Amino acid sequence: MCKSNLIGGLIMITKEEACNALTMTDEEKFQILQNVIIDYDHKETNLIQILHMAQAIFGYLPAEVQRFIAAEMDLSISKVNSVLTFYSFFSTKPKGKYTVAICLGTACYVRGGKDVLNKLKDVLGTDVGTTTEDKMFSLQVMRCIGACGLAPAMMVNDKVYKQVNPNKIQRILGMLK
Ligand code: FES
Repeated sequence: MCKSNLIGGLIMITKEEACNALTMTDEEKFQILQNVIIDYDHKETNLIQILHMAQAIFGYLPAEVQRFIAAEMDLSISKVNSVLTFYSFFSTKPKGKYTVAICLGTACYVRGGKDVLNKLKDVLGTDVGTTTEDKMFSLQVMRCIGACGLAPAMMVNDKVYKQVNPNKIQRILGMLK
């Protein structure tokens, strides 16, 4: 059975475990999550880290995962839910293979970020906070990521694209498929 690893105070899921997460049964995923919670001493102060790990294991945080965390940590479900809904990086819905996030911070907004967002909506046929039917793309909006000098910026998963404009969107997304 896979077990999480405690490294320098940070609990890590091994690369192998992360890759295997796609093929693991739910029972195995819950077992790993239980080990994570044990490693974090069931402490409420570690709830955000535990939610991060749970999202890495399951891909998102559905109700049954929230219930499991609440029960294991002796917290109310509303407490768990209030924390995860406060932070935009947590999702209660399955995400696509690629998370496309356009920055609408001030610099990006005034340099055309909204036009890029509209183009993304058109091309993907989806809205902010939702995922395309083929589960390839989730669309998000974010605030400044520190690339203001080359605004507008967007991210696809961990990769930053700078000085994007509506004409570049088809090509960027096309390269991903
Ligand atoms: S406002 Fe978009 S990167 Fe700073």
